[in-house]
Amino acid sequence: MMNHTVSNKALFPETNQKIELLHNLVGKIEKVKQVVSQSKVTPKQDMQVFRRQLKSMDFNGTASLEEVIDWTLNHFKDGLVQMIHPGYMGLFNPAPTFPSEVASIISSAFNPQNCVWSHAPVSVEIESHVLKQLIKRLGLPKNSTGHFTSGGSEANATAFVGALSKIYPNFANDGVFAFKGQPCIYVSKESHLAWIKIAATTGVGRKAIRLIATDGLGRMDAQVLHKIIEQDKKEGNIPVMVVATAGTTNAGMIDPIKSSREICNQYNMWFHVDAAWGGALIVSDYYKDRLDGIELADSITIDAHKWFATTMGAGMFFTRHKQVLSNLFSVSTDYMPSNDAEQDLYVNSMLWSRRFIGLPLFMSLATVGWQGYAQHLEHGINLIAYLVKKMQGHGWQLLNQSDMAIACLIPPEGAHTPSQIVEKIVEKGEQWISVTKFEEQSVIRVCLTNGMTSSSHINGLIENLLEVSY
Ligand SMILES: Cc1ncc(COP(=O)(O)O)c(C=O)c1O
Repeated sequence: MMNHTVSNKALFPETNQKIELLHNLVGKIEKVKQVVSQSKVTPKQDMQVFRRQLKSMDFNGTASLEEVIDWTLNHFKDGLVQMIHPGYMGLFNPAPTFPSEVASIISSAFNPQNCVWSHAPVSVEIESHVLKQLIKRLGLPKNSTGHFTSGGSEANATAFVGALSKIYPNFANDGVFAFKGQPCIYVSKESHLAWIKIAATTGVGRKAIRLIATDGLGRMDAQVLHKIIEQDKKEGNIPVMVVATAGTTNAGMIDPIKSSREICNQYNMWFHVDAAWGGALIVSDYYKDRLDGIELADSITIDAHKWFATTMGAGMFFTRHKQVLSNLFSVSTDYMPSNDAEQDLYVNSMLWSRRFIGLPLFMSLATVGWQGYAQHLEHGINLIAYLVKKMQGHGWQLLNQSDMAIACLIPPEGAHTPSQIVEKIVEKGEQWISVTKFEEQSVIRVCLTNGMTSSSHINGLIENLLEVSY
């Protein structure tokens, strides 16, 4: 067994030793990143070998931190789908902005407890400032509020419990016993299906979800929505919330925001906009009108760790109904230094202990401003437009008419299927793209949240797509 002095020195080394370790670490990380960005985007690790190694680490022995760092970096190099690779044109997982990477280092070093203002006045107020600036840009009323979440799923779950407690004022006390019928959530069939998990875990059950048909262009059909709500009312079910997705996961489509709001007004329902990825468009003066009507929402989800490209997990929840949050989440305990609904996050949100989630977005915004971020977004949008134009020239078709940096493509007749093509691209390992369904049709999905990708990487993708298609 290690004696206490030795273990204490390993867990909490002297300053000089830490400086040396961190200095070396930064160099090592950057070297590994360089190797990663020039090799395969897909994992090359032999997982059987890895599992054997991992199994042998039963923590009865010890190692130097340097050894553990090298081991970890080595496996990061070979054992991940690499978001930091410029060929990663896949899901909404970004190569993180460098300011956000730095922010994560700083906040880990100090580990502030952001759940209570008195423990972390500066970091709580930095988060609150960023959120206020976003509230302004979103056009929400001045007295709206927001908080950082672990991700989009938590923000969406917050929207739903908020809606339940607005419609059933007794929900926070009585839970499911407050319901006088089956509560229903209306989302498009193209929405992100975390809604199903949310329904299952909030006590309303999976059957609360109404997956509304789309209009053939990937957007929720407002007429069908209206009809299904009417039907539910006739059957004694209780329509609680409509969700418009602004930037669908498959195709970057935007559901009809204003007509969804009108329907919610008509039936006294909560209106949520899930803009987890697409919400970042508010930074661009040119593109932000695509989200018109978002300012009318009862609540909004935007993830910083998607198109804002911060380190994970950084979601955001906004609402015009401050009171709803404090009704739901307020608690009073003797061991917490305070419970002020205005500034103590543990009495306003689902999490209790929380990291300084907002620092990566703050440091990125402070470094490049709205305009710098707008350039990041527009760079992706332009590259996708370039890809689409080139592929159309080769007889490919674009199925989604999105203003965002995402294309759902199908190859010409006679070519391999989208899944065969994607399988070959991923096997080659120069790019990572995916196959999905758009309006029931199998498509190749290329998405650019990645700020490291340039036109030469898109040219590489075009070359490979043409090569593996027949
Ligand atoms: C539209 C949409 N909403 C919500 C989510 C869930 O977000 P998270 O993965 O941060 O929980 C996603 C994830 O891709 C999404 O695309």
